[in-house]
This record gives sequence, structure tokens and C-alpha cells, in this order.
Amino acid sequence: MCGIVGYIGNKKAYPILIKGLSRLEYRGYDSAGIALLQANDIVNVFKKEGKVIDLTEFIGNANTEGTVGIGHTRWATHGEPNNVNAHPHTSGDGTLTLVHNGIIENYDVLKKELIKRGHTFKSETDTEVLVHLIEEIKKNSGVSLVEAIRIALNEVHGAYAIVVISAEEPNKIIAAKKSSPLVIGMGEDEYYLASDATPIIEYTKNVVYLEDEQIAIIDRNNGLRIISISNTEVSPYVQELEMQLEELEKGGFEHFMLKEIYEQPRAIHDSFRGRLNAKEGWVSLGGIKAYEDKIAKANRIIIIACGTSWHAGLVAEYYFEDLARIPVEVEYASEFRYRNPIIHKDDVVIAISQSGETADTLAALEMAKAQGAILLGIVNVVGSTISRVTDAGSYTHAGPEIGVASTKAFTTQLTVLAMMALAIGKKRGTITDEKFQLLLDEMEALPAKIEQLLKNADYIETVSAKYKDAQNALYLGRGSSFPIALEGALKLKEISYIHAEGYPAAEMKHGPIALIDENMPVFVIATHGDNYEKLVSNIQEVKARKGKIIAIVTEGDTNVKELADYVIEIPDAHEFVVPILATIPLQLISYYIAVMRGCNVDQPRNLAKSVTVE
Ligand code: AGP
Ligand code: GLU
Repeated sequence: MCGIVGYIGNKKAYPILIKGLSRLEYRGYDSAGIALLQANDIVNVFKKEGKVIDLTEFIGNANTEGTVGIGHTRWATHGEPNNVNAHPHTSGDGTLTLVHNGIIENYDVLKKELIKRGHTFKSETDTEVLVHLIEEIKKNSGVSLVEAIRIALNEVHGAYAIVVISAEEPNKIIAAKKSSPLVIGMGEDEYYLASDATPIIEYTKNVVYLEDEQIAIIDRNNGLRIISISNTEVSPYVQELEMQLEELEKGGFEHFMLKEIYEQPRAIHDSFRGRLNAKEGWVSLGGIKAYEDKIAKANRIIIIACGTSWHAGLVAEYYFEDLARIPVEVEYASEFRYRNPIIHKDDVVIAISQSGETADTLAALEMAKAQGAILLGIVNVVGSTISRVTDAGSYTHAGPEIGVASTKAFTTQLTVLAMMALAIGKKRGTITDEKFQLLLDEMEALPAKIEQLLKNADYIETVSAKYKDAQNALYLGRGSSFPIALEGALKLKEISYIHAEGYPAAEMKHGPIALIDENMPVFVIATHGDNYEKLVSNIQEVKARKGKIIAIVTEGDTNVKELADYVIEIPDAHEFVVPILATIPLQLISYYIAVMRGCNVDQPRNLAKSVTVE
């Protein structure tokens, strides 16, 4: 993971780098550092364990002059988070300074070889090996810095986005990438580099997304030049960003997560704007239109994703199988990629990813591509790698999601998947006109129903307070609400550090029931629908063992109310959209509990927003 930034131009680099790092902090936040190239060609490096704010306090009034610089906010893979392992890392002679996002997989072999050649290392990182390797090649072969970087990158295995500066070439900044993202912002006689466009947006909208195995050489006097690591010239493709700066601010909310929970009515509306019209009775996803026939004829749909996005895939399995009658398999990308799976040419592989950069999802996609499958992406970040490697896809249009815990990204993924299943079901004739129309109406009513649900936030906060000291929690659901139980549990775990598990409600009796006693809160999604009666029985089973029951019910429900300790009502809705609605109270419960426990909700410990390492 990690966020990296770079600047070369006429302005003072320091404030630009610090602001950029704060924007990228969601990617990693265990330590941070910057390097500034000063007018006397000295490189000044500052690094500190902790957040970007700790780095700025540490720097205090020190000399931060310089119009060229690089910065890094780390999510450690090799070596614990401390001041020494923090980036930037410097070559043995102190001339080269580098920041890196990714993993150099063969660092150990390279390190042993370099030690034999007299190099000494300060840190435990894989990254420091790379900067020493570049130094070694440069000295040994007498080649230019760019050439040394190019040769070094041909020797390393793994993933990297790097930015390098040199005290010997103060008018240059060199960057390269493979499997980790890197964007170049093109200003007027100035250039910005960053892991995503958020640090760049306020300075320029013109960007170049560096592709894998490309090296960008930015020269203050000669501008940008791109070569591949096999040494061929590449002409830069400049794109215009669509993102607005205001979308990145907290807008009066205490945390990004809360803001993003409240943004869901708008985000879902944006997600189906121009794609669904209940009045006129149609749904159409422009991005996959050209592939609709192929999807409709697919032998099988394979969904690959990680974490919350994987939960969205599980809900989609219900959607596609029910409405389009196409068999679906939902796979953890990390398992799928190493399993030698059977993929046919008429399989459609759908990757779901908020960031569009998740390393495992990307690798699984590439494997499926090599086997000839059709690749679709359901991605939030416009221009991200997954959106570019897939044949077609639909953006979720949730807008930037900064809180590490995924909220609006998830509900908009469900929205897009629901629309896709409706469109394909219609095309295949596996859904009746009546049901199609009913579900379109249900979809269109979602933003208003979520608004209504959010008005209940104070009550949800009161309920949450009762369970803030819980050690464990169980989440139960059936049918398409089972993945929502998984998502509820994941949300609680990741931001409040309470151990939680999600289970299909009927599966509880095969094991987890042993955990239930008077201290165990059990969150049950028990809304009206086909499984309602059975859910009520499952709630009885919990109650008989003195578990505490917090049930998400359909408004006006009376049966569950009699059994549960607390009920949280959601507006009456068809089962098809219940997964979207039921997610929201569970997000709020996790949020309030985490706040009450004093946790950092937007940047939970050990996590990062964009998991660009395996
Ligand atoms: C969500 O709350 C998580 N932090 C995490 O599970 C996330 O969903 C996962 O890392 C996948 O990310 P992606 O959607 O960007 O691919
Ligand atoms: N491998 C590097 C480190 O541990 C970079 C980590 C990353 O990109 O997540 O410092």
C-alpha cells in the first residue's frame, strides 16, 4: 500500500508534499517521511513513525526549502513501523533518495549480493535494497541514473511504484511503476506525482497515468519523457480528471466515514442516474452495453473481489442467479489467483473493487484474461488500474471514499450489480415484465428510503451505546441478507476492534450457538420476505440461550419486537433491495461503537484503504 507523492517545479515543495500525504494517508499511516532537494544540491530527509501530523510536528521549524521533493506515508510490509524503516530511503553514498509502494519480492537475494559488495543497510525494508541496487549499477557500469534505474527494475521481482531524486541531478525526478499505481499531474512548468489523483486535483486536472513497467523522466527544463523498462519510447497520454476538490473535504461531519454514510442517498442516485428509469421502464448500463449479448450468453459468471467488495459479490450471486438464471461463483481474489481455476472463454469474470487497485483482484483478473475470459469491472475510482485492464465495466459513481471502512462504495456496488442483473435478466427473458417493473420502482425508491432511515440515527446511537463494551458479537442473516451479516461483522471488527462473526442464521446451530450467553449481542437481519418465519425461529433459538438480540426489521413489525431487546426499523421494501437498506443501520452501529470506544474510525489500526500488495 503506502501513499507516495513527488513535486518538481517553481513552488516550495514542502507544503505540497505534506498536503498530498494527508490526502493519501488512507493508504497507509504507520510512518511518514519526505526528502527535499535543496538549492545547494543537498537532500534533506525527515522521517517519523506515526501519522503525517507527527511528521510535521517533528519537522517543526527545520529548513524545508527546496522546489523538488518526494514524500511517503507507509503501510509496512517488511520491517516494523519505526523511524528507520520509514521512507524515503537513501543510497549508501547519500546521493539517491527513493520512496516506494509495493514489495520487492527478491530483496533478500539482492541484499545478500549487495552486502558482499560492501553495502551496509540501515533498515529492514525491501525498499532500501532497491536504492542500493540502483547505486551499485550506476557506479559499477558507469551508466546514467535513468539507465541504472531501468537496469535495476529489470532485476527486481514484485510490485513497485517508485519516485527517485538525486543530489547529482537536481533538475530531475524519476518515477516508475509495476502493479502499484502512479499518476503524474501536468502543471505549467511543474509536475506532481502521486499514488492517486487526490493530491494533484487542486493544482491541475491534466494527468498521465503511468502504465506498468514504464519509467517517467521529468526534467525541469525538458518536461516529461516516458520510456519502458525494455527501453522503448512511449508517448504520454494526457487525460482530464473529473473529480472535484470539494468531494475530498469532510463537509462539517466529524469523520469521513459518517459523511460517507450520509452521502448514500446521493451516491446511489448518482449511481443510477441516466442508467435506470422506472417511469419509462428501462435499465441500461452504457459501459457494458456492447458486451450485453456476451454476458447474456455466458456459461457462468465468476465474481472476484476482496473484503467488502467480496460481500457485494455474494449479494450479486443472488441477483444474477435469481433474475438472469446464470450460474455464479464468487471468489476471494487472493485464493482464486493461486488455485489453478478452470476458466472458459465464455465465462464472464466480474471484478468488484472500490479502489480499482487491489493487487489480488488485479492479479486474478490478469490470470482470467490470459485464459480468454471476458473481463468486466465494477469500480469506484475513475481511471484506476482495474477500470483500465477490463474489457468493459460500470463505475459505481460513489465519489471519493476516504474513510478506510467501506460504506457508500459497498451500497453503490450493490446498486450497479442489481442494475446489471436486471438488464441481463431482461435480455435473457428470465424475468417477467411485472417483476422487472416492480424492481425498477424499488430501486428508484431507495434514496428516499435511505434518507428516512438516516433520520433514525439518534436512536441507533442509543442502541449502540448498550453494546460498546462487548467483547464479541454475532451477525445473522439469511438469503441475500447473509452477506450483509458478514459485512456488518467486518465493519464492527475493522473500526471498533470487537471480534465479530457473520453467519447464515440457520447455520448458527451447527457451531456458533455454543458462543451464545447473556453477554453476546446478536444482530439479526429479520426483515419481511420469504425467510421471515424461519428467521423468527432462529431468533427464538438465540433468546432461549439468553443472547441479546438487536434485530433489523421491516417497519411496523410486531413479532420480532416481542422477542428482541431492540429493534431497528427499515422502511418497507422488496427483498431485492433489503441488502442495501439493511447495511446502513449496521454501518451506523459500527461507527457509533467505534467512536464511543475512542477508536480512529477513519484510519483504523493496521489497515489501509487501498491494498496494493498481496
Ligand atoms: C472495507 O471496509 C475494507 N477496508 C476492505 O475489506 C476492502 O473492501 C478491500 O480491501 C477491497 O478493496 P477494494 O474494494 O478497493 O478492492
Ligand atoms: N515494502 C515497503 C515497506 O515495507 C513498502 C510497503 C508498501 O507499499 O505497502 O516499507
